[in-house]
Amino acid sequence: MWKYLAGTIAIGTVTYGLMRYFAGGVCQCSTRLDGLVIVITGANSGIGKALAYELAKRGATLILACRNIEKAVDTKLEIQDLLNNQAEIHVKHLDLNSFDSIKSFADNIDKEFDEIYALVNNAGVFYHPQALTKDGFDVTFQTNYLGPYYLSHQLLRTLKRSDHARIINVVSDAHRLVNVYDLNCLTNNQGEFRTHFIAYGVSKLALILFSREFPRRITDTNIIVHAVDPGNVETAIYRYFPQLNNHWLYIIQWPIRRIVVKRPNQGVQPILHALLTSNRSTGQYIKDCKAVLPSAIACDDRIARKYYKTTKELIRKHLTESEC
Ligand SMILES: NC(=O)c1ccc[n+]([C@@H]2O[C@H](COP(=O)([O-])OP(=O)(O)OC[C@H]3O[C@@H](n4cnc5c(N)ncnc54)[C@H](OP(=O)(O)O)[C@@H]3O)[C@@H](O)[C@H]2O)c1
Repeated sequence: MWKYLAGTIAIGTVTYGLMRYFAGGVCQCSTRLDGLVIVITGANSGIGKALAYELAKRGATLILACRNIEKAVDTKLEIQDLLNNQAEIHVKHLDLNSFDSIKSFADNIDKEFDEIYALVNNAGVFYHPQALTKDGFDVTFQTNYLGPYYLSHQLLRTLKRSDHARIINVVSDAHRLVNVYDLNCLTNNQGEFRTHFIAYGVSKLALILFSREFPRRITDTNIIVHAVDPGNVETAIYRYFPQLNNHWLYIIQWPIRRIVVKRPNQGVQPILHALLTSNRSTGQYIKDCKAVLPSAIACDDRIARKYYKTTKELIRKHLTESEC
């Protein structure tokens, strides 16, 4: 009897310890955000939704930038209900797979709001079936990279009006799986199929390189930019991933996932840290609420500079003369 009890306590303690370990760092900043306007893309699900709740609790005025208005309105009502109707939340349509949609979203925000404090480029897809957007780019590449790149430029004028502003790009450790060859191949041959992992890794590597180079392009502003890795988080992002979108396979993996995979409210902690910290350094890669080094390629300033220009060429026809 005592043996079983001791065994149960030991297993429970180890399981709890592992869960704490895999949950990652916790943001310790207690800063309030009353009156500050924050745009979150893809805020109707997973990490974006959990982030919206955490920021609304701290008093921020939120703009939920989503392609599915119905789900976004449900998210807005759910958060307002949890906070006794104390949260100011706006829902706006944004489809990152369309530069026209991004432009009209940004124009609309610029007209309606005096300034915005932060843009969180959170929306993303993983393992998406290969397809081209109507703008002619790979869906994963445009949603995860070109869309955030273009949106950041389009919202610049509204961000600039804030005394201090931040752009947070939600990235992934998957960027470590790809090399410069993959980056160049997929960039120059939209529609060419490598693997879903490579497509995802390339899009996130590109976004980290952008987070490194963009601060150097906007030194005349008070905007800081970071790339943040939320870690492995249990969300709908795995909807296309064969190992997890199968009901039975998911059930088999559930006990392990419950230990090693974060809940959305744990995944948002490094993003909260990047938004709230008083440290004003810029261009960092943040993971577990601290700055760490991304892959060697992602640290290469020469590649970052060159890739920024390559991207500008790719989307040149969507930019105005002054943006080129
Ligand atoms: N979960 C993880 O383990 C993990 C790990 C590392 C990084 N991340 C990153 O974290 C971010 C959030 O992902 P998540 O895990 O919270 O996944 P999620 O629950 O699937 O949320 C993704 C959000 O992005 C939106 N979205 C997708 N395509 C869009 C488009 N073309 N235009 C506008 N919105 C679009 C989705 O909208 P719909 O609901 O309409 O589809 C959804 O709101 C992603 O950038 C992801 O790469 C996640």
